Amino acid sequence: MSKLRIAVQKSGRLHDESMELLKNIGISIDNGKDQLKASARNFPVEVFYLRNGDIPQYLKDGVVDAAIIGENVLIEKGEGIGVAEKLGFSTCRVCIAVPKSMKYNGLTDLEGKRIATSYPNTVQKYLDLKGVSANIHIINGSVEIAPNIGLSEAICDIVSSGSTLFKNNLKEVETLLKSEAVLAVSPVLSEEKQAILDKIQFRIQSVLKGRE
Ligand code: PRP
Ligand code: MG
Repeated sequence: MSKLRIAVQKSGRLHDESMELLKNIGISIDNGKDQLKASARNFPVEVFYLRNGDIPQYLKDGVVDAAIIGENVLIEKGEGIGVAEKLGFSTCRVCIAVPKSMKYNGLTDLEGKRIATSYPNTVQKYLDLKGVSANIHIINGSVEIAPNIGLSEAICDIVSSGSTLFKNNLKEVETLLKSEAVLAVSPVLSEEKQAILDKIQFRIQSVLKGRE
C-alpha cells in the first residue's frame, strides 16, 4: 500500500507547530528531525523534513504529495499548487521596510532604488501593479541587514512580531500580503493518495474546530 508523503519544514518558524499538528491528528512519528525522513507508526504516512524554499518544487514534481508550508512561500514559487486547508498558525505578513530615518511618502520613493529580498517574484508583482520600477537584489537570509551595510535602500521580508525590523532600525511601509501555514497539495496526486489525504484533512478540520 502506498504512503502519503508529507513535507514539513526541517527547521525554522513552522517546524514545531507542524509537528504538533501531526501529533494532534494522531500521527505519531518515531524518529526526530535528525532524520530527513520518518514513518508514522499508525498511519500510511511518511514525513520528509525539507528546506522551506525547496518544498514547492517537490510538490510540483510529485516527489512529495502534500506539505505544511507558509502561504507566502507558495505565492512566491508555488504556482499551480493547491491549498487544501489554512492551518491558522505562523501568521505573518510580507512587507517592504525602509530605514527609520528615511522620509517615506509612498512606493514611488523607491523608484530606481534597490530592494533586498528573498521574495523576488512577490516584490516584482507588487512593483508592476503599482507601476514602479526598482532593482531587486535576492538574498536568502538576514535580509534586514541589507540597508545597514549599504546593499540596498529597502528590504522586503516577512514580519511576524516586528522585532527583527525594530532591531535593525527599519520601519514597515508597505504590506504586500498576509500569510499563515497551509496544507498544500501536489497537483499530481494519485487517487489512492488522495484518499489518505482526505482522511488527514478531516482530522485536521476536527482539530482546528476544537481550537476555535
Ligand atoms: C524571519 C524573517 C524575518 C523575521 C521576522 O527570519 O526572515 O527576518 O523572521 O520575524 P519577526 O518579525 O518576529 O522578527 P529568520 O529568523 O527565520 O532568519 P533568516 O531570515 O535568516 O532565515
Ligand atoms: Mg530573517
